[in-house]
Amino acid sequence: MKSTLLSKITSNTETIGIVGLGYVGLPLAVSFAQAGIKVIGFDKSQSKVDQINRGDNYIKDIRDAVLREVVDNITLSATTDFTRMKECDALLICVPTPLDKFRKPDMSYIEAACIAIGKHMKPGTFISLESTTYPTTTEEFMLPLIEEASKENPFNRPEAQNNNDNNHNNNDNYNNYNNDNNPPPSQPASSALSFKHGIDFWLAYSPERVDPGNASFHTKNTPKVLGAITPEGLEIGKQIYSKAIDQLHLVSSPKVAEMVKILENTYRLVNISLINELALLAGKMGIDIWEVIEAAKTKPFGFQAFYPGPGIGGHCIPLDPFYLEHIAKKYDFDLSMIHTAGHINMRMPHYMVIKISTALNSIKKAVNGSNILFLGVAYKPNIDDARESPALEIMNIVIRKGARVSYHDPYIPSIETHHGASLQSVELTSETLRNADCVVITTNHSVFEAEMIQQHARLIVDLRNVIQEADENVFKL
Ligand SMILES: NC(=O)c1ccc[n+]([C@@H]2O[C@H](COP(=O)([O-])OP(=O)(O)OC[C@H]3O[C@@H](n4cnc5c(N)ncnc54)[C@H](O)[C@@H]3O)[C@@H](O)[C@H]2O)c1
Repeated sequence: MKSTLLSKITSNTETIGIVGLGYVGLPLAVSFAQAGIKVIGFDKSQSKVDQINRGDNYIKDIRDAVLREVVDNITLSATTDFTRMKECDALLICVPTPLDKFRKPDMSYIEAACIAIGKHMKPGTFISLESTTYPTTTEEFMLPLIEEASKENPFNRPEAQNNNDNNHNNNDNYNNYNNDNNPPPSQPASSALSFKHGIDFWLAYSPERVDPGNASFHTKNTPKVLGAITPEGLEIGKQIYSKAIDQLHLVSSPKVAEMVKILENTYRLVNISLINELALLAGKMGIDIWEVIEAAKTKPFGFQAFYPGPGIGGHCIPLDPFYLEHIAKKYDFDLSMIHTAGHINMRMPHYMVIKISTALNSIKKAVNGSNILFLGVAYKPNIDDARESPALEIMNIVIRKGARVSYHDPYIPSIETHHGASLQSVELTSETLRNADCVVITTNHSVFEAEMIQQHARLIVDLRNVIQEADENVFKL
């Protein structure tokens, strides 16, 4: 089966399935499709699937014309029909890995994807997880799930085992059923045969590193780490990914690759926490932290600049420590430094509210009853993602304290507050700025013009160093 798959890859006739078509999955699907590989995207969301099949783009980092082109020439199509996984030679999983209500890893999306794959893949499939997760997920969580689910795979039916030695599937079965005219039987297996890893499928982990909004690095030119359970899996994965990714870095196992992703994200978390803590101290001491960072950056070695802000956001950095903590507990290990870093960041929105009340106090106003306009709710500049954004947390706290809140974000037309209300982005005009008792800059979108904001706003709390000119009406982090 390995040689069948490798020869398909060599002749560019393989089909890649991408499971989960969000911020990570859709760019990856487009990257393969642009390389001329047939791609089928799988998502449970009918509306996303319909949008893709119409060529309607919903990811800011993908150019509309590029998506339309790969859809028009049928290199990329999308479906909610997971039985079509049997048409794929490789399945790359890009589903969410959020936290549950007790802030524990919610593995239900990976679980659902594995069960669908086990039930519907054909023998000889390469599977790779791209979602961020804790080390050991691929081998200890996914592998048994896929093997167990494959007991219901039609390829495992006794009829499909006609040439079988009763241990596992073989090439004859694969070739018998690997075409649309001769699909596998549709009833589940009565026997409990399952696919076996290393024989019927190969499993790997390759963390996605996409950085939404980054103009220089995108899916194709960002080096990718890959670790597989077996050398055969690694070889197949390398051949597959090389089509869409310029540079691969191979590691010895999935758990190394899983730890790489967690290291990268926790490195950011700890350093952002460090600079946030120093920013709070500097603020108390009357030292401009932004000037400090600019000066420190002149050191040509041993220092990398991180910038303070109202907290951390997005789908990765705030959540990953909880994934790591989950597995560390199993090893009776206390992640005290990472814990402290997370704690500092969780408190940042509360410090920002103190900043806002101090600013309002300077004009003899309270948070209660004030009109507060927030500029930017995305968790970082120039993107349309507000997941875990600290701006939302700050807005919710001041709403609880009685403020009247509005916001402007050019990329996020509406948001839900914790209080169940829906807010629409207001236009950014001289009038909206003038009407606010306080304007809080929560995201430094590059379209924000410092001069215009400063000209019309009565009071500014700048949490992102957008306003460079010192002014008694500007309160900076
Ligand atoms: N967004 C980022 O910047 C980023 C960067 C690197 C890594 N990651 C990681 O990548 C993973 C995906 O993140 P994302 O931002 O793309 O999430 P997303 O929410 O934008 O997209 C996930 C997609 O998966 C679909 N989905 C959910 N369950 C499914 C299932 N069982 N079968 C098929 N589709 C299913 C959802 O409908 C959605 O379209 C996460 O683990 C995340 O931590 C994200």
